[in-house]
Amino acid sequence: MLNIGVLGSGNGSNFQAIVDAAKRGEFEGRVCCAVSDVADAYILERASKAGIPGRHIDCGPSKSKAEGVGAEKIVEYMRGCDVDFVVLAGFMRIVKDPLLSEFSGRMINIHPSLLPAFPGLASWKQALEYGVKVAGCTVHYVDAGMDTGPIVLQRCIPVIDDDTPESLHARIQKAEHVAYPEALNLISSGRVEVAGRKVRIVKD
Ligand code: GRF
Repeated sequence: MLNIGVLGSGNGSNFQAIVDAAKRGEFEGRVCCAVSDVADAYILERASKAGIPGRHIDCGPSKSKAEGVGAEKIVEYMRGCDVDFVVLAGFMRIVKDPLLSEFSGRMINIHPSLLPAFPGLASWKQALEYGVKVAGCTVHYVDAGMDTGPIVLQRCIPVIDDDTPESLHARIQKAEHVAYPEALNLISSGRVEVAGRKVRIVKD
């Protein structure tokens, strides 16, 4: 049974998908808190509506990293909520110590591209501009890099000729809302083995 803490900076649609999937029993776990580095992020409102503790934690002056005192505060709060597994859902900072080391091997992220293609921001736009025919999302463990950790699973969607950045992003997000609970199901049922960069899914 995973006790999941979710970290996000924005809308929180993946947070919602995970909360809903947990309620439907799609994986063995529950969401015990949401943390945001953005005070008015909608993810916190979603948490309050779902009756899940939510907290804004100021992560300091660097807008791109969660490090130092900010990272420490997140660790403290997550410990207080008995979190044993962290899910990044639209968290717009690179995770540094002590948060990274505290949850090393116990923290995953979702990225809106088929990594290693198009890491970083607005990946759906990068994909469209590049002219790829297949896009998708990637669930991966979090390491010290940006969107570089071992890949748990990927889901593909076709790019269609008339796609706009908005339409492609919306379809990728739909895929994300299925992929994240799927990954949590694999992890919570003990079927995920990580060896270096390789993640092996053990059969039922
Ligand atoms: C998702 O597209 C995710 O891939 C990326 O940030 C977005 C977060 O969306 N890392 P939401 O806040 O879950 O709606």
